[in-house]
Amino acid sequence: MRLLFLGDVVGRAGRLAVLETLPKLRARYAADFVIVNGENSAGGFGISEAILNELLDAGADVVTTGNHVWDQREALVFIERYDRLLRPINFPSGTPGKGAGLFKAANGADVLVINAMGRVFMGDLDDPFRAVEDALAACPLKTGADAVFIDFHAEATSEKEALGHFVDGRATAVVGTHTHVPTADHQILTGGTAYISDAGMCGDFDSVLGMEKDEPISRFLTKISSRRFAPSKGDATVCGVAIDVDDRSGLARAVAPIRLGGRLSQAEPDFWSEDA
Ligand code: FE2
Repeated sequence: MRLLFLGDVVGRAGRLAVLETLPKLRARYAADFVIVNGENSAGGFGISEAILNELLDAGADVVTTGNHVWDQREALVFIERYDRLLRPINFPSGTPGKGAGLFKAANGADVLVINAMGRVFMGDLDDPFRAVEDALAACPLKTGADAVFIDFHAEATSEKEALGHFVDGRATAVVGTHTHVPTADHQILTGGTAYISDAGMCGDFDSVLGMEKDEPISRFLTKISSRRFAPSKGDATVCGVAIDVDDRSGLARAVAPIRLGGRLSQAEPDFWSEDA
């Protein structure tokens, strides 16, 4: 099975790049299942129902989120109507929406997607390790799901690496999001789980984390907020990862970064060539 993940879509530049690129990627790789993190897709803050539908129509099977999930308040309501939109699983009980779901891939496989959020340098949430453990216990790899994908939306690389090793051999992939900067540590862990600390954003890298540079620089200099952060409008790089899944074990055979367009060095997987 072929899994694709695209990192945090930031603002209009990121959105337009994903809407243009994702259908082509999905076809070129014959991807079976696509996950996109959409938590910064509406003006850099949250996700609207219209944008969610655009991402789904462009080929996302599931849209994950993180700390900005409720920035567009309408999400508190419409999330209940969309199984394919996830919020972090370790939000307090009673929070609208779901943090995990079992979804059908194009090849007929059942894919468990878990969206969790870190606690180090972030909000005071429930323990993400135990929340993920409970979700895996309810739907284990092989007996409950053919593949398990975890989007771990977290700031600290230590917490991300720890979660990766914690589920190693029990999940197909743990992909970090939130920092917006792609890391170069993609690997198959010793137990067979694909791992990367951060997939990076889909956005303009002539920016500070996808936002126009002046206001973030000014806040570092003065500690004064002058205006809202605004998404940077230049050409976006579409960042993500490709994961080749062993259908027998549900574990990963290969993982590679994707970086297309914009300013970053370009990268695509080499294990899905046309004759592969
Ligand atoms: Fe985030």
